Amino acid sequence: MNIPFNKPHMTGKELWYVSQAHANGHLAGDGVFTRKCNGWLEQRTGSRSALLTHSCTAALEIAAILADIQPGDEIIMPSFTFVSTANAFVLRGGVPVFVDIRADTLNIDETRIEAAITSRTKAIVPVHYAGVACNMDAIMQIAADHDLLVIEDAAQGVMASYKGRPLGSIGHMGALSFHETKNIISGEGGALLVNDARFTERAEMIREKGTNRSKFFRGQVDKYTWVDIGSSYLPGEIIAAFLWAQMEEAEAITRRRLDLWAQYHQWFIALESASAVRRPIVPRECSHNAHMYYLLLPSLEQRSRFIARLKECGIQTVFHYVPLHSSPMGRKVGKAVGSMANTDALSDRLVRLPLWLGMEEQMAFIIQEVTSAVTHASSSRPSDAADSTGKLQLVAAVEDVRR
Ligand SMILES: Cc1ncc(COP(=O)(O)O)c(C=O)c1O
Repeated sequence: MNIPFNKPHMTGKELWYVSQAHANGHLAGDGVFTRKCNGWLEQRTGSRSALLTHSCTAALEIAAILADIQPGDEIIMPSFTFVSTANAFVLRGGVPVFVDIRADTLNIDETRIEAAITSRTKAIVPVHYAGVACNMDAIMQIAADHDLLVIEDAAQGVMASYKGRPLGSIGHMGALSFHETKNIISGEGGALLVNDARFTERAEMIREKGTNRSKFFRGQVDKYTWVDIGSSYLPGEIIAAFLWAQMEEAEAITRRRLDLWAQYHQWFIALESASAVRRPIVPRECSHNAHMYYLLLPSLEQRSRFIARLKECGIQTVFHYVPLHSSPMGRKVGKAVGSMANTDALSDRLVRLPLWLGMEEQMAFIIQEVTSAVTHASSSRPSDAADSTGKLQLVAAVEDVRR
């Protein structure tokens, strides 16, 4: 038995659309398929403008330029996130200011944001972990009170919503990912959602190497030229064609993922009742997208034994994140405000289970082995793999699936 942690799902129409892009003879960006994808996103999210990018990282970088981040400006974010959340701002000279996460959703603790605001604060970057929304009402209120921008890192949030509003469409800007580990994929891929009219025109130019090329193609200017800073942030048509096949099936993909997620959730009630694990918590106002299923084990040692045990059965499980505030780069360029107790403790205890379309038939086996590995982890003596050295080895081992 070899059950990977992730397996990209193909709808079956990807190559058909790729062959159409090939036949169209337009392989650079912003052709028919890019426009279809942008239109789909705008319609689904209600955002003023959606711009396909070659990654969520790229979308965050555009957002950082739009937010006019200058050296020394501060950006408040969780430490429990992927590196791009911080890197996009550090590239502009910004200082990531890390605050702790909530114990229930593992999202930024909105009650700790105000204490981190200084005269240098420019933006708040809520990360919707596992496609479960942050408390956006509170965050938007804090931002309004202090005249700050909100840039949602909705990398994991496609097809998820908060009080009925799609993730990425609530802040001034939002960034989505279509990386192959996400629900809707194009290998690498992403999009910037622009929700504030002040930024729509400039976003287009930054994405197109700082030129007004998009305006030129719409016939709004008679020649295009260099007007701003920018870079090459748009994907080619082959990627967009692939993504279009996924977008067409986005509802069905999400339904099937939610079904797998619900099976895990139902089966692990007993383990939670026995205090052997904690299951994910989804607040009532959040409609999630089953991006991931994770368990919180009681300790780092038990998690290490759990992962090792499942590996022996051929089931790959992974953990993340190494908190940014304690990473070498985070220590160098960022700062943590207040206690990071939840971030430190929960990142040590979290383990992600396989969740991909096509694993339906193996679900019973996985659930059975997970249950027995939890029991094994809580009863065994600590092994070599359970110390901090073991943790570092596992970090290397899961590099490919770190997202
Ligand atoms: C929270 C978060 N932000 C940003 C990213 C970066 O996304 P991408 O790989 O599309 O650049 C990821 C990637 O997995 C992520 O999980």
